[in-house]
Amino acid sequence: MHTINITGGKTLSGEIVVSGAKNSIVALMPAAVLCDEDVNIYNVPRLSDVDSLVEILEYLNVGVESKEDYMKINPTSMTNKMVPNELSKKLRASYYFMGALLGKYGHVEISFPGGCVIGARPIDLHLKGFKALGATISEEGDNIIIEANELKGTNIYLDFASVGATINLMLAAVKAKGKTIIENAAKEPEIVNVATFLNNMGARISGAGTNKIKIEGVEYLHSCFHEVIPDRIEAGTYIIIGAAVGNNLKVSNLIPEHIYSLTEKLREMGVPLEVGPDYVIVSKPDKYNPVDVQTLVFPGFVTDHQQLIASLMVLANGTSSIEETIYENRFQNLYELAKMGARIKVEGKKAYIHGPTKLVGTTVMATDLRAGAGLVIAGLLANGKTEIQNADYILRGYENIVEKLSNIGATIELI
Ligand code: EPZ
Repeated sequence: MHTINITGGKTLSGEIVVSGAKNSIVALMPAAVLCDEDVNIYNVPRLSDVDSLVEILEYLNVGVESKEDYMKINPTSMTNKMVPNELSKKLRASYYFMGALLGKYGHVEISFPGGCVIGARPIDLHLKGFKALGATISEEGDNIIIEANELKGTNIYLDFASVGATINLMLAAVKAKGKTIIENAAKEPEIVNVATFLNNMGARISGAGTNKIKIEGVEYLHSCFHEVIPDRIEAGTYIIIGAAVGNNLKVSNLIPEHIYSLTEKLREMGVPLEVGPDYVIVSKPDKYNPVDVQTLVFPGFVTDHQQLIASLMVLANGTSSIEETIYENRFQNLYELAKMGARIKVEGKKAYIHGPTKLVGTTVMATDLRAGAGLVIAGLLANGKTEIQNADYILRGYENIVEKLSNIGATIELI
C-alpha cells in the first residue's frame, strides 16, 4: 500500500493538463472486444484501473499494445472464458465484460465486480436489461452466468438513469437482432464517448447524451481510431485545488460544458474563474461564501465532485451543506476531514460543514478514490504535514497526480 505525504500551505501556480477520462477508458477497453478487427485508442490515461483491465484482456487472449497515451486492442484471437474473482474484483468496470461478451458470444461467465465501497451498488438494472434482450441469468456462488441463443432488440426502461447499466446495455445490444431502445438512459459524457467509439466501428447508435438511446443491431464491427474524452472529475479536482490554494492556476485540456455544475457552484462561493474554450484559470479568493450542493445525475452536480468540494467548504464563512442522492455511503471522507479539524455534522444523506476552519495536517485514510482526492485537497490547504494512507485508491483514478502537483509547486511525495 502506498502513502501520500503533503506539506500544506503552498500557493500553487502554473499549468496542469487533464488526462483522458477514467470512466470512459474503463468502458472503452471492454467495448473493444466487440470489434471483429483491431481498434486504436488515443489519450489513454495510465491508471491502475487500466492495468487491471489489461490483465483481463490478456487473460482472454486479447492482444494489447500500448505506448504513452496510445493503445491498440486486438480481439481477433480471443477466447471466451470465465473471468475469475481475482481479476473482476479489482475494479467496478469489470462488469462491462458482461455486456461485451454477451453481445459478442451470447455467453459470459464472470465473478461479481469490485469497486469503491460508497454504497450497496447493485447491478439489478444491468441484469434486468440483459433479460429483456433475451438472456437467461444464473448464479453459482460469486459467479454469474449470462447466456442467450439470440439477443433480440427490445424496449428497455431503466428505473434509474444508471451510467453502468446504460453502457452495459448498449454493449449487449450493438450486435443484437433488430432495434433496442433504452429509455431513461443516463446522459453522462462518458456514455456519448462509448457510443461514438462503437459507431466508429460501424455500430448504429443514436441519441447518446439524451435520455433515449436507439441501437440498430449490426453483424460486423470494423477497425477504428478513437480518442478518450478529457476526465471531467480530474479536471474538477484540480480546479478545486486552484480555488483552495491557487494563484492563476491553469487547468487545461478540458471540456467546460462537462464541468458547468462545478464551475457555477465555485462562482457562487466567490472563486474567481476564467473559463476558456478548453481551459479554466482559477485563483483563491479572499473569502468564500457557504453553498448548498445536491448531487444529481448529469448535468446536475456530480456525486464524484461532492467529496472534493467538501474540502473547500471548510474555508467558507458559514455553514455549507451537501445532500448526496446517488449513493448512500459517500461521506467517509468527512470523518477523515474531521480528524484535520473540520467541523462537520452528518445526518443521513445530508452533511453540514461549518466554516471557516484552518485545517491541521495529520494522518488520514483514503477510504475510496474520491475520498482520497478530497484529502489531497485538504492536505494542500492544511498547516503542517498530512499523511494519506491507503493512497492506492487515488492512483486508480489520477494519472501522475504527484508529478502534476509537484510541477505547480506542491510539496507532495508518494511513498
Ligand atoms: C459510475 O458508476 C462511475 N463509475 C462512478 O464513478 C460515478 O460516481 C457514477 O457512475 C455516477 O456518476 C464508473 O464509470 C466505472 P450508476 P456506476 O450505475 O455506473 C444505483 C468514481 O469515483 N444502481 O450510475 O456504478 C447505484 O447503486 C466512480 O470515478 C442500482 O440500484 O453508477 C447507485 O446508487 C465511483 N442498480 C446509482 O444507481 C443498478 O443496476 C448510480 O449508479 C445500477 C445502479
